[in-house]
Amino acid sequence: MEEIDKKKLPCHIAIIMDGNGRWAKSRNLPRPAGHRKGIEALQNVIEAAGEIGVEFLTLFGFSSENWNRPKDEVSELMRLLRSYLRSQTAELHKNNIRLRVIGDRKAFDKDIVVLIDNAERLTSENTGLNLVMALNYGGRQDILHAANLLADHAWREKRKLTEDEVNALLPQFLMTAGIPDPELMIRTSGEQRISNFLLWPCAYTEFVFTDTLWPDFSRKDIDDAIAEFNKRDRRFGRIKTSQAQ
Ligand code: IPE
Ligand code: IPE
Ligand code: MG
Repeated sequence: MEEIDKKKLPCHIAIIMDGNGRWAKSRNLPRPAGHRKGIEALQNVIEAAGEIGVEFLTLFGFSSENWNRPKDEVSELMRLLRSYLRSQTAELHKNNIRLRVIGDRKAFDKDIVVLIDNAERLTSENTGLNLVMALNYGGRQDILHAANLLADHAWREKRKLTEDEVNALLPQFLMTAGIPDPELMIRTSGEQRISNFLLWPCAYTEFVFTDTLWPDFSRKDIDDAIAEFNKRDRRFGRIKTSQAQ
């Protein structure tokens, strides 16, 4: 296991938890078995993030495109979401974790919306790990939603907004408002794409791809990803200070 450099610990890690289906298939199990095992990996990673001292952890649990999966699989995912919220909300609260959900929750069954609202309310004053769950989330939808809010704002003001106002307001209208941009994005299962995740906040995020399938993701994988992040030279369009004349 590679050593973590505490000084360069990313404040915000985002994870695309992918590969549940393949994990199940490789064991001749039905896909839901992979999703169930994936929940265990999720619980382990939340615990690990708290121990490591990461401030924000964002997990992609269900994309706005995942509704296009077979009806049975979507129902199973909804069942797991419901059961996770029912059984884990008190645990999150006990561990001083603050939960925030991004995405269009209105599309979920009413009882799930209530569970999400209650979990956010219960944990809102917690001061430990900020856990952000992206559920029915799409990066483009988020930007479009923010653009619509901007248009409403201009309409209420009855004037054209200045460019500076748009620059200042747009990030505030995103569902990710108040959450720092992720410094590290991990995607499991060998896929190397963003799949409509945090498009705006990922402008300068470091990406680490691992072949590990999500249900097998462990503390070692997160430590390895942070160690890899530590080796990156983040320039943000500049050049290294040592190269400046
Ligand atoms: C990630 O695993 C879980 C969700 C997208 C909900 P997948 O279900 O995408 O697993 P693979 O990619 O088919 O292996
Ligand atoms: C992205 O995984 C969404 C989540 C992990 C929740 P997908 O499996 O849906 O992404 P694609 O279809 O392979 O791009
Ligand atoms: Mg997948």
